[in-house]
Amino acid sequence: MCGIVGYTGPSQAAPILLEGLAKLEYRGYDSAGLAVRDGSALAEVVKATGKLAHLADKTDQGRALPGTCGIGHTRWATHGDPSMVNAHPHVSGNCSGSGSGTVESDVVGVHNGIIENFAELKDKLLRHGYQFYSDTDTEVVVKLVDYYYNKYRIGPVDAINRMMVRVRGSYALALMFKDYPGEIYAARKDSPLIIGVADDAAYLASDVPAILKHTRSVYYIGNQQAARVCPGQVTFYDLNGDEIQLPQTEITWDAEAAEKGGYEHFMLKEIHEQPAAVRDTLKSLLKDGALSLADTGLTDETLQGLGQIEIVACGSAWHVGMAAQYVIEDLAGVPVRVELASEYRYRNAPVPKNTLMVVISQSGETADSLAALRVARERGLETLAVVNVIGSTIAREADHVLYTVAGPEIAVATTKAYSAQLIALDALAVRLAAVRGAISEEEVQRLTDELAAIPDKISRILEDKDRIQWFSSKIANAHDIFFIGRGLDYAISLEGSLKMKEISYIHSEAYAAGELKHGTISLIENNTLVVGVLTQPKLFEKTVSNMAECKARGAYLMGLTTHGNYAVEDSVDFTVYVPKTDEHFVPSLAVIPLQLLGYYTSVNRGLDVDKPRNLAKSVTVE
Ligand code: F6R
Repeated sequence: MCGIVGYTGPSQAAPILLEGLAKLEYRGYDSAGLAVRDGSALAEVVKATGKLAHLADKTDQGRALPGTCGIGHTRWATHGDPSMVNAHPHVSGNCSGSGSGTVESDVVGVHNGIIENFAELKDKLLRHGYQFYSDTDTEVVVKLVDYYYNKYRIGPVDAINRMMVRVRGSYALALMFKDYPGEIYAARKDSPLIIGVADDAAYLASDVPAILKHTRSVYYIGNQQAARVCPGQVTFYDLNGDEIQLPQTEITWDAEAAEKGGYEHFMLKEIHEQPAAVRDTLKSLLKDGALSLADTGLTDETLQGLGQIEIVACGSAWHVGMAAQYVIEDLAGVPVRVELASEYRYRNAPVPKNTLMVVISQSGETADSLAALRVARERGLETLAVVNVIGSTIAREADHVLYTVAGPEIAVATTKAYSAQLIALDALAVRLAAVRGAISEEEVQRLTDELAAIPDKISRILEDKDRIQWFSSKIANAHDIFFIGRGLDYAISLEGSLKMKEISYIHSEAYAAGELKHGTISLIENNTLVVGVLTQPKLFEKTVSNMAECKARGAYLMGLTTHGNYAVEDSVDFTVYVPKTDEHFVPSLAVIPLQLLGYYTSVNRGLDVDKPRNLAKSVTVE
């Protein structure tokens, strides 16, 4: 959600900023803008609605904007509609129009996040003679910095610190001050922002891909910390204005990992990267061939003493939790509750002692998941984060971290991060069962071997993707699709349904198959597609019966099951098989055809697969 970039150094800034913004397109946006300075007191501000290409066209790919210091932004609208006037950057000076053109303003800034008390702050600023041209909370925060800067005649860092004390909400901010040419000031709370320094230049960005071409060493600014970014140099400050030292983190993945690498879409590339993502994640949890959670810092004593696990997450990560619930309860006998982070944070559910809270998040920045983590910590729970992005806020704030090793995920619809999370939770379940003596050593070994075989089985499914491509061309005009299953098959249905609707815009629902008769079956009409997930031996016949009930009302049926269950072909119109594995781990295989189904349906409908409308990759607002 929203992307921020900044550059100061010897080169022309605008082309570098545009290139950086292009790498952040995956985050989701509806308008974009740049502010560039050439050392004078003036800033050149250019904005455009729609695709980044419009901004690039307007500025001749950035070449038309002179200046070696600048900031850029892609906006995902929160306060105010997606329009020129609301697009960032925003300026502190009173001006008419959209705040663009050549402006002489003390402060110019871009922002990612939400300022919750912006209305109250706006009133205060209006009373002090400020005028507003946009509906954004960003214009308020830029003017608030300007207010402190001018009222107390203090430096940028002190003005930013006063602002940070006064605002409530989340922000990553990059600001330029008229009196400080060649410098960018940054501050953050709960929204991502990184800074990289290379030779005689410095870069700011919301995420690593935007600056990876220039440097692999990055700083993660902490909450309520500020930075002064100059060519080749960065200085960090705490809320008191005192200088602080921050560690540098080395990014280990290659720039190519964030490129399409010959695939038509990032999503297809990431679907194909799943064998590696699963293998690498599992490898990171194996020590001398045995599963180990030692690197997370979770001790065997903690695992043995657990009375309950609470899994909290959003979207697909929540679906991973839903699957893990069945596996952990079945293998380790520990009760599991799975909560939507957006609900959990506002509920006051009594929590038994010895509860471990597991937060699952690819980005490690999802606002609701982060808030839930903080609530859990306030309640005194031990917390484990299962996170993909190293150094992200959730990873830093949890007591323990289990990093999935999926590499950068660019497509908005998650695939490889989901699979990496799933294998991580399966490994956790097996280790938990082993430590608690819930299963024999032979069983632990057998399950570990089964997990190790998953990546090759995923590769085999991917080799057969043409069938799914063919089937998706038949269903591309569907109006409604239902995904049904019981137990773990229900958890897979949830993810299959989300993959379908978020990128194909076809309405779809996932139902626990036994629930159909309690209302949903009235929606089944002639040719409504019902996808039955039938991988769980004990539940197979029950779900087949539920599918037959749909068929009797005109539904068109697809069955998804494991090799060997060939009798299903008598009951359904189209069947997809995945290789056999232990029944607990089938979701890792069964989800692959459903990801492909969503992907090809979106392609067949001519949609923007990697950047579906209205969605953002990292949901950093509530
Ligand atoms: C769907 C999808 C989302 C994310 C959700 C949580 O394809 O990607 O539902 O799973 O927004 O994001 P993270 O895992 O970054 O917390």
